[in-house]
Amino acid sequence: VKIAVFASGSGSNFSALAEACKNGELNAEIVLLVTNKPDAYAIERAKKVGISALVVPPKSFESKDAYEQAILSALQESEVEWIVLAGYMRLIGPVLLSAYPSKIINIHPSLLPSFPGKDAIGQAIAHGVKVTGVTVHLVDAGMDTGPIIAQHAVDVVDGDVEKTTEAIHAVEHYLYKDALSELFSR
Ligand code: GRF
Repeated sequence: VKIAVFASGSGSNFSALAEACKNGELNAEIVLLVTNKPDAYAIERAKKVGISALVVPPKSFESKDAYEQAILSALQESEVEWIVLAGYMRLIGPVLLSAYPSKIINIHPSLLPSFPGKDAIGQAIAHGVKVTGVTVHLVDAGMDTGPIIAQHAVDVVDGDVEKTTEAIHAVEHYLYKDALSELFSR
């Protein structure tokens, strides 16, 4: 299964997926990393493991459609079958949604539908919840709203954002590969 991973930041989930593809835990090949951020650390991670990175700054396009059209051309060129979002900080628009119906997956650091959007871990801690978690879901036009595929609860650690983020990342790194592996073998 040929996949593209979209990331805007550090890319620890990208690396976890790349490792799972390499060691056979995930029956997929990451053919492309797509990023909107020229300084995303995920790009360095891709270089290290020999995966091509496509850097597409939205500002160089006159519209969101034109931006996504440029990405879509690259995906089609590489015969990408699934889009896997991993810390991609933009909403997916109609161009990609219609080209990849029910084939775009996201991971979000909360138990959706609680705490969608940015800084989900900060939101959860500010709210004072004792348990939060991780959700893998299908992407639709909304913000973190698509059908849920997998969830895992994570305890808030000492009301602390950093410690809780660490615990959440650890769960993300196995939940994502397991959920995708199940999905790709259907
Ligand atoms: C993860 O917490 C993911 O759930 C969220 O963005 C974060 C990305 O982390 N969507 P990383 O860049 O994979 O380290």
